[in-house]
Amino acid sequence: MVGVPDGAQELHLVDGRVAERDTSPPEVRAAREPSTPGDTLLEMRAVTHRYSEYSGIEDVDLVVRAGESVALLGPNGAGKTTLMKHVNGLLRPQSGTVLIGGEHIARRPVWEIARDVGMLFQNPDDQIFNRVVEQEVAWGLRARGISAMDASRAALRALGELGIEHLAAENPHEITASQRQLVAFASILVVDPKLFVLDEPTKSLDARAAEVVAAAIDRRLSRGAGVLLVTHELDFARRLADRSVVLVDGAIIWAGATEELSGDAQLLASARLVDRFGRQGGRCGRYRAPR
Ligand SMILES: Nc1ncnc2c1ncn2[C@@H]1O[C@H](COP(=O)(O)OP(=O)(O)OP(=O)(O)O)[C@@H](O)[C@H]1O
Ligand SMILES: [Mg+2]
Repeated sequence: MVGVPDGAQELHLVDGRVAERDTSPPEVRAAREPSTPGDTLLEMRAVTHRYSEYSGIEDVDLVVRAGESVALLGPNGAGKTTLMKHVNGLLRPQSGTVLIGGEHIARRPVWEIARDVGMLFQNPDDQIFNRVVEQEVAWGLRARGISAMDASRAALRALGELGIEHLAAENPHEITASQRQLVAFASILVVDPKLFVLDEPTKSLDARAAEVVAAAIDRRLSRGAGVLLVTHELDFARRLADRSVVLVDGAIIWAGATEELSGDAQLLASARLVDRFGRQGGRCGRYRAPR
């Protein structure tokens, strides 16, 4: 991209119109104040799932409590999606156990686990199948026996919360990838799950849309939901996650307060995390032994 002198205005498109943009770096919000976690919503104990000798996840322990958000960080191919798919039963452990709300999910079918766990897939196209946005968002409620009128009303509310109610009548396959991402997120918000499992919820979103998503997550956290989220953006992890877990080559190499992670350059490099300007963030810090 061509550089813009300090203080200059850059032209770009907003909703198809040319607009001016202040090129000063966006304000990075303060890190989240740690919340007081409640009951355990998710517990993974020594979960192993290997596709081959070199890929999968190994001996993963992870806890998410009510009112708490945990960021799952790590390079491409680390096993983040594999781990997430164990939370809603799409993948089952080869060894180890997964508990939701203190109960083993080994014998629960995926559709039933979905009552407690709202999963946003890494690729929203994997979960969108209706031909009208409003129906797509309402579908989860209709499947629970909610009337068409009530489900539609709730769907419009969820779309409104994300600022995309104007897309209600569109075909989800004829809107942009970032809009589809928001539609998929709305379809999870609408069913109000106890636990949100979000695989790169801000992928392809601009800063404003990412903040809309973050604010919606914040509201659920304050009502006692738990959140496990994958992100490659350090700012987003700091904004939302009290704790972070770093997964490399299928194993958790670090777990702790997200604030601590932000100051550890070597760990940030291991997780291949970036800030909004594409730099690996944080000041220099000493690498801590994995725990
Ligand atoms: N269904 C599958 N069959 C065989 N190997 C798989 C399968 N799914 C994932 N893998 C492999 O397992 C490893 C972990 O993949 P996974 O998708 O969990 O990583 P990830 O951390 O989510 O990566 P990304 O950041 O690119 O989304 C990779 O080496 C991947 O190629
Ligand atoms: Mg993934």
